[in-house]
Amino acid sequence: MSPALRAGLVGLGVMGRNHARVLAGTDGVDLVGVVDPAGRRGAVPAEVPLLASLDELFALGVDYAVVACPTALHEEVGLRLAEAGVGALIEKPLADSVEAARRLVTAFESRGLVAGVGHIERYNPALQSMRARLEAGELGEVFQVVTRRQGPFPHRISDVGVVKDLATHDIDLTAWVTGQDYVSISAHTVARSGRPHEDMVAAVGRLSDGSMVNHLVNWLSPLKERTTVVTGERGCFVADTLTADLTFHANGEVSNEWEALRTFRGVSQGDMIRYAIPKPEPLRVEHERFRDAVRTGDMGEIVTLRQALRTVEVSAAVLESAETGETVSLKAPSEVLGVT
Ligand SMILES: NC(=O)c1ccc[n+]([C@@H]2O[C@H](COP(=O)([O-])OP(=O)(O)OC[C@H]3O[C@@H](n4cnc5c(N)ncnc54)[C@H](O)[C@@H]3O)[C@@H](O)[C@H]2O)c1
Repeated sequence: MSPALRAGLVGLGVMGRNHARVLAGTDGVDLVGVVDPAGRRGAVPAEVPLLASLDELFALGVDYAVVACPTALHEEVGLRLAEAGVGALIEKPLADSVEAARRLVTAFESRGLVAGVGHIERYNPALQSMRARLEAGELGEVFQVVTRRQGPFPHRISDVGVVKDLATHDIDLTAWVTGQDYVSISAHTVARSGRPHEDMVAAVGRLSDGSMVNHLVNWLSPLKERTTVVTGERGCFVADTLTADLTFHANGEVSNEWEALRTFRGVSQGDMIRYAIPKPEPLRVEHERFRDAVRTGDMGEIVTLRQALRTVEVSAAVLESAETGETVSLKAPSEVLGVT
């Protein structure tokens, strides 16, 4: 048995408290200190010190730290961790600008440090199962990915708008489940809650295989919804990431004898299956994968900073399109940062 990894946590707000709970229960990891200038102990075990600065955390000696402070501070905190030679699991989005995200990629890659981003939807059982089924070709050719992420306004998020805070979940999961990159995007936003940032977005985009995407994301609905629908040759998958349910609606193969319905020549309704899938907590899986990446240096099972940079680039293109009214073409990732 290798000795337990020493982990720190930076930021003890809503998400930080979840990280503290999961870190404290992850095998092979010791939570050794939590940095938050305004932190309350909450889920943090009594033996773990609450600290006022990163220097105090570094003095304890840590292998990696989880960064769960506000998005606008990810760059500052992340760069300090990289300079100190400490790996990092940074909450999503990686940073509040493309430039900051690039600086973080360079800082961690140039030092050969293990670093990842908490795009937690990738660990949702419904999307994990959907991705495996798409990879196995169960849907045939994919035509379209539609995501809907609606809900009420979270008063604590004030540093970024709904595109960077929430639509980044949809951008990351869409690229990941399909294995495709975004090539263009067009979007409209509105700001209705009287705050400086947008709180509603509708975006239409195209992926590298020619399939289309559609994202509806807002903070203005009393209806809480997190749905991903992928439509292809053989039917469609519907993933509900609130309940972690995955459903398949098959195109029908039964010929229709009813004359009145025969004039429609498109697909027909077939069987519907709700898969029985195991449902481990996504945050626990995220932490176990990150722990394993720190142990082995293999980052194949985590969301890399480079992948998260791409998500920030696509979110910036969404905002640019909403501002200019033009469709924005995305440069290939290798054109903006050296290929490794
Ligand atoms: N993966 C997810 O599903 C998910 C969900 C919620 C939030 N998040 C992300 O987590 C991050 C935090 O969001 P939140 O909702 O927990 O916000 P929050 O406002 O509840 O918590 C932020 C905490 O950071 C602390 N903080 C401020 N400056 C700090 C500093 N310099 N060093 C250490 N701590 C500092 C604050 O005191 C506060 O306790 C954001 O980046 C957000 O996008 C991710």
